[in-house]
Amino acid sequence: MTLVAGVDSSTQSCKIVIRDADTGELVRSGSAKHPDGTEVNPQFWWDAFLEAAKAAGGLDDVAAISVGGQQHGMVVLDEGGNVIRDALLWNDTRSAGAAEDLIKELGGGDRATGAQRFADIVGSVPVASLTITKLRWLRDNEGPNAWKAAAVALPHDWLSWRIAGYGPAGDPSAPNGPQLDKLFTDKSDASGTGYYDAEADGGKGAYRMDLLDLALCPAPLGDSGKPACGKCGLTLPRVLAPTEAGAVANPAIAGKDVPGGALIGPGAGDNAGAAIGLGMEPGDIAISIGTSGVVSAVAPQRTHDGTGAINGFADATGNALMLAVTLNAAQVLDAARKVLDADFTQLSDLALAAPTGADGLVLVPYLQGERTPNRPDASGTLHGIRLKNMTQQHIARAYIEGMLCGLADGMDALRALNVPIENVMLIGGAAQSPAVQEVATQVFGLPIAIPEPGEYVADGAARQAAWVLASAKAGTPAAPPAWSTKMSKTLPANPKPVVREQYAKVRDLT
Ligand code: XUL
Repeated sequence: MTLVAGVDSSTQSCKIVIRDADTGELVRSGSAKHPDGTEVNPQFWWDAFLEAAKAAGGLDDVAAISVGGQQHGMVVLDEGGNVIRDALLWNDTRSAGAAEDLIKELGGGDRATGAQRFADIVGSVPVASLTITKLRWLRDNEGPNAWKAAAVALPHDWLSWRIAGYGPAGDPSAPNGPQLDKLFTDKSDASGTGYYDAEADGGKGAYRMDLLDLALCPAPLGDSGKPACGKCGLTLPRVLAPTEAGAVANPAIAGKDVPGGALIGPGAGDNAGAAIGLGMEPGDIAISIGTSGVVSAVAPQRTHDGTGAINGFADATGNALMLAVTLNAAQVLDAARKVLDADFTQLSDLALAAPTGADGLVLVPYLQGERTPNRPDASGTLHGIRLKNMTQQHIARAYIEGMLCGLADGMDALRALNVPIENVMLIGGAAQSPAVQEVATQVFGLPIAIPEPGEYVADGAARQAAWVLASAKAGTPAAPPAWSTKMSKTLPANPKPVVREQYAKVRDLT
């Protein structure tokens, strides 16, 4: 049996699955936690990866490995391959002001013009999540760190580079040393930086060094007198084709027992990884309730949404991946559980015992600010409190309805851009909650398929690894392996417009 490994280095943890390359059958798996927070020393990702690999029975017997990872996080490296500061993650909102500055500057002072120009070039209007805004924030707030930067990578790029045996000079786990030009990435993650145009050059894609320069230059000169900007040679990871191997793994990490070692695939941003894991094709929509809430759609062409509601990213197979992303998803349900002192099942039972619309109790769930709509400094609102609805049941229902209404707004934004919406899937841990399932059929008003519970990002990475391996053996890009995704059930549509109508009124008040 030929084995492949898929990694999901997510905000909360590192998960590794080891699967049969031919059938996709799960053979072993392991996981390890990441620390909480919106800025993290990448060393924790490396340590968690090693711990998860150990828990999965080691990686000596895998012939290929790919890494899916949380998107957008800024990993800045100096010339010696050292991480200069903790990585700022996608859910860190401190660069919201930097995003506004960049948009206005690209528009020659006019925000609307700048927003549309960004959307036209890179497919997205920058918000605090995107890497480009974090680089501008670095320039403006930590000049000395910006001057030291020799390379900027994303979380999955950095982890792949470490698996390949690169890293800080002198680090025994990095026998290949700090070669920054060996960093590699894929189109899906590059397209989330804000300085990569996935459609450039007839669809080949290219970095936009002018946008990188916009973020970092003209920079006030630091002590070294060296401005940190693209023109001065900041190294960016090479963007690989979907079936291209970026390196062979350090045998001490993976592939020791496999002739020729383990190939490392290009990897992917986590949402694109999940799209491969779910076998998504144009017309398919995934609603994911995780640390982020995501409505994603695969389509042949990306959108250019100047309102900023939809990110026009690339997927990891050659299509486009449109995303509406909220900062308030699973954690809203966690907050409800704390308030109600309820576990996952009890929260669901409580919510199902309340009427649709929670008798007018509405939660606008901006508990950590919000990204879509772009309200980084907003707070949440619980509105319409009456004696009748101040019950645990109503509160549970309002939290679930509010969280899903935020995502339904994202679905509307996709619809407004004529993105095809045919098959809708609900994924993430919360997708197993009967109350979440019921409310989803009401606020989305569409049939909803629930895939069997799985690690779809890690599974997608494993599927990519098998695809890279098959292509390497064939000497030419092969067809993706035909692994199947099993649905546990499909729920019929049950539209209840009142839920979204009352939500929209309160959302627009706040
Ligand atoms: C996507 C995004 C989040 C992270 C979560 O744009 O920011 O979904 O990828 O890991």
